[in-house]
Amino acid sequence: MITSLLRWMWRPSRWNAPETGAWPPGPRLPAALQTIMWVVAPMRFGSACLRRYGPVFTARIVGFGRVVHVCTPDGIRRILRDDAGSFDAAAANKAIGFVVGDHSLLMAHGVTHTERRRILMRPLHGANVATYVELMESVVEQEIRRWVAGTRVELLDCFQRVTLEVMMRAVFGITDSVRLARLRVLVPKLLDVNPLLILLPAMRTKIGPGARFQKLLAEVDEIVFAEIAERRAAPKRGGDVLSLLADQPCTDQELRDHLVTLLAVGQETTATQLAWFFERVLRTPDALKRVTAAVEEGDGKLLDAAIHESIRVRPSTLDLGRVGRRTWRLDDYEFPPGTMFAVSLGLLHHSAALHPNPGEYSLDRFYPVEPPSAHFLPFGGGSHRCLGASLAMVEMRTVISTVLRTVRLEPADPAPERLAPKGPMLVPGRGAAVVVTEVLPS
Ligand code: HEM
Repeated sequence: MITSLLRWMWRPSRWNAPETGAWPPGPRLPAALQTIMWVVAPMRFGSACLRRYGPVFTARIVGFGRVVHVCTPDGIRRILRDDAGSFDAAAANKAIGFVVGDHSLLMAHGVTHTERRRILMRPLHGANVATYVELMESVVEQEIRRWVAGTRVELLDCFQRVTLEVMMRAVFGITDSVRLARLRVLVPKLLDVNPLLILLPAMRTKIGPGARFQKLLAEVDEIVFAEIAERRAAPKRGGDVLSLLADQPCTDQELRDHLVTLLAVGQETTATQLAWFFERVLRTPDALKRVTAAVEEGDGKLLDAAIHESIRVRPSTLDLGRVGRRTWRLDDYEFPPGTMFAVSLGLLHHSAALHPNPGEYSLDRFYPVEPPSAHFLPFGGGSHRCLGASLAMVEMRTVISTVLRTVRLEPADPAPERLAPKGPMLVPGRGAAVVVTEVLPS
């Protein structure tokens, strides 16, 4: 009885939008149930909707209402690039405004967004980022030094520490050991924010989790503002991002918002993608052999192909949010202003039509020839394309090469790890647990 009811509710439905006619099909399940499925198993929920309703479907999510998912190359190109002026990314990011601040790039639209992006572009440019390699190598070597042959290591935790250290030193340019030690404790707690605080502003009260979070944020801010004040008083010659930003006409609050934005969007994503890389490659012996050889021979093209394939098969996030600013047409649909869209890069990258056997990790998918860029957008596209893409790629290449040159690893359990939601991230369910089988002589 219950299963037939669920099956009935899962049938395609079309809701009538008063202004426009019909919405794309989607499940009839109550919004609360769809929300739970979307939160608990977003990839399975999205893939099931894609199979049943096609590449443009509507899900109902508590807190967002009807969310139109788009996962065709053409629809995505139009939202991110050709018709980008019809969409507002900042409105979709509103929920994290209380963390990143009003001056954040994530909160800006149009000309303001372009101006803020220009300020951040120079320090995150490939040529500057390349100067961080030595620092990255020393950070990851320090982490690996703790690993002992025969022991179990959860790579996600290790890479969280590595990416945080790189962020504090290369981006914030912090050298003071007390501040570094303090941030090592505070930032992981800050990024482990209770998702309800993001979804429900009413939770941000003066007592309970809301108050604890505000206290944490205030402590992080205190360190960031102290670092900014010192940099203003005695500019460093370093190429760290804050030193380069301090030359720009920015107020202290603007600088703080830029730094916290980079921390919020850049640290966990990179750590998670690194963890997924090892989770997948260690379970694909042929790929592991080829990547290890590529690292020894300095074949950067194959290493990049391996990284790209891991982002495709195990993305740290599935969707990019956009809110329609004006009426927009796609296929037979006419969406009114205010429509919430999910640009589903995760589903685009799992489309069997574009990427045969999409669940399989295959190096040859990206090597020697990459798929067309419209079929694979690991860092998004258009005017909001990831500003940290160069930093992320340099960091991932450096960490992976250093690990593969220093140790041999195998999965702690051969069964694949599930995609587990952690805040906005999808992380390996067992933390990318491995056993160190050998520490290679240096
Ligand atoms: C593997 C790691 C990473 C992945 C997969 C990734 C992915 C993305 C994607 C898909 C977007 C587009 C968002 C949208 O269109 O709404 C984005 C935006 C952004 N990313 Fe990354 N990112 C990574 C690492 C980083 C790092 C290390 C930084 C900086 C330290 C960074 C900074 C940013 C910023 C500032 C934006 C906003 C750009 C804008 O709105 O103009 N990301 N990222």
